Amino acid sequence: MTDLSPPAALDRDRIRELFDLRSSYNSFSGGDYTDDPYPVWHELRARAAVHEGTVHRLTGYPGEAMFQGLPFPDRPHFSVFGFEACDAAFRDSETFASSPVAINPIGDDVGVMNSMLSMGGDQHRRYRALVQPSFVPAKAKWWIVNWIQETVQDLVDRIAGDGRAELNTDFCAAIPVLTITGSFGVPVDQALVIRESLRDPAAVVRILAPIVAARRESPSDDLISVLVQAELKEADGTTHTLSDAEIYSFAILLLTAGSGTTWKQMGITLTALLQRPEVLAAVREDRTLLKACVEESVRWLPTDPMFSRHVTRDVDFYGTTLPKGSVLHMCLGAAGRDPERWDRPDEFDPYRPLKRSLGFGGGPHICLGMHLARAEITTGINALLDRLPNLRLDPDAEQPRYVGLYERGATEIPVLFG
Ligand code: HEM
Repeated sequence: MTDLSPPAALDRDRIRELFDLRSSYNSFSGGDYTDDPYPVWHELRARAAVHEGTVHRLTGYPGEAMFQGLPFPDRPHFSVFGFEACDAAFRDSETFASSPVAINPIGDDVGVMNSMLSMGGDQHRRYRALVQPSFVPAKAKWWIVNWIQETVQDLVDRIAGDGRAELNTDFCAAIPVLTITGSFGVPVDQALVIRESLRDPAAVVRILAPIVAARRESPSDDLISVLVQAELKEADGTTHTLSDAEIYSFAILLLTAGSGTTWKQMGITLTALLQRPEVLAAVREDRTLLKACVEESVRWLPTDPMFSRHVTRDVDFYGTTLPKGSVLHMCLGAAGRDPERWDRPDEFDPYRPLKRSLGFGGGPHICLGMHLARAEITTGINALLDRLPNLRLDPDAEQPRYVGLYERGATEIPVLFG
């Protein structure tokens, strides 16, 4: 392995700082929350369909926490915790819009809030259609062969001789960020620079600009090439290619959504398996069961348990009048444990009959990258099981716990093997 191979080029301490949910980088979304929110969410769901207030206040979190739909201090806030109400809001994007304002991605204002995540209706459909073909299940192999497999194997090479490892930051965290930056043609030594710059769009643009220019000259088989060649169909039927600003906002959305979520869900899945040795043994024997474990983990403990919408008209919603201009928070974490939909909802049980959960969202904005996320998680965990015999939690180390409020994940995952 040369010094330039992907994991060697990553600074381990920097990864820890960027990816530890309790670090200052992540504190803005409630990273210091260490309680189990599910008992409170069960109570709230049982008490009423719609509650006035934000999810963090209703959960009893004393600090400020930021996520989609926050803070908007001058607007009324409402929250829902049941599957049916969350699903209904996700599906009705006319009443429940992703942004309080119209989105103009052609202007110079580059960033996630100016991307398709915030768009609605026909505008959202037209932009999403440009990238959807790169994220369908049939493209999983393209992602695995080009960007996932080698990174995963290199990361395992790095720990395989040690007999012990910490898997959350030293394994899970690196995979999605290297996958998505790799698919953009960003050099490995800049992958973490881009990750830490995500809240400073100008810095990301400085890294992406030469790549976008190069792909405009000569496209290759990667995602920036897909974006520079994409033809956007306007409402009047005319077509045009995307401006640099449109590409940057698209890219920042994919980088943010792609590198911030999957590593935590991989850590959650891995922890759930390591804490249930009998399930881990069954998965080791029959790898097809891993798929069900990933779906169960997304239901049982989705890494981002709350998304929000802006109410576009006065509406009676499950017995409460939501005024136009208010914000509705969908606690999809609570929805995943709704006892009306799942028996024994608090149990992690990959053998239960598969039912759609909302861990990847729902309606028109349902996660674009869900098949990629599944491919990353299954490729990662399969490689650990293939190459680290007798993988188990280190009984003498501090055991993993789940922390964080709007971004949830495991603390360290200390393991022994061999
Ligand atoms: C396990 C990992 C992941 C989880 C739990 C997750 C979850 C979600 C959720 C709940 C939404 C809906 C947001 C909303 O309705 O406002 C969403 C949207 C989105 N996700 Fe993911 N995501 C994951 C991985 C990824 C990956 C790997 C990518 C790839 C680049 C990605 C790209 C996106 C994009 C682009 C959207 C916006 C889609 C739209 O507005 O139409 N996600 N994700």
